Amino acid sequence: MVRLAVAIVFAAGCDDHLFNSPEVEVTGTIDASWAGMEVFFEAHCDTCHVSIAPDLHVDIPADIDAGTGTYVVPGDPDASKLWQVLLFAPGVPGMPATGQLDEASIAPVEAWILAGAPVE
Ligand code: HEC
Repeated sequence: MVRLAVAIVFAAGCDDHLFNSPEVEVTGTIDASWAGMEVFFEAHCDTCHVSIAPDLHVDIPADIDAGTGTYVVPGDPDASKLWQVLLFAPGVPGMPATGQLDEASIAPVEAWILAGAPVE
């Protein structure tokens, strides 16, 4: 009985932290807000995207402001390269380059794009 209680406490903690990325220490909640997206990038993308590739924290808001749709078309995940790379869709590099994330991990990104991709 005691052991079961401990397991439940651990599982509840998983909502706020990213246990599928043990190599990255991340705190914060991944939800359909820009703050949530920043936690998502930190957990899954920053190992490459702050140094060798575009900085998603900077380039995505700039892209949205400019309305160029290079990464994100607000309201339209299917037209958004950010969403296509997460799905490993044909014609784009699958991201993270290290392997596809599960559906539950990427769902907040789709929800954020559908919510109009707010960047504040
Ligand atoms: C292991 C390193 C690595 C990780 C982790 C990674 N990326 Fe990338 N990503 C790259 C590199 C390198 C490029 C540039 C590839 C190119 O231009 O062909 C890139 C390109 C991209 C592009 C632009 C693709 C294009 O055709 O313009 C997007 C969007 C992207 N990554 C999103 C992400 C997201 C979102 C994550 C996290 C979920 C992520 N990446 C994680 C290395 C990585």
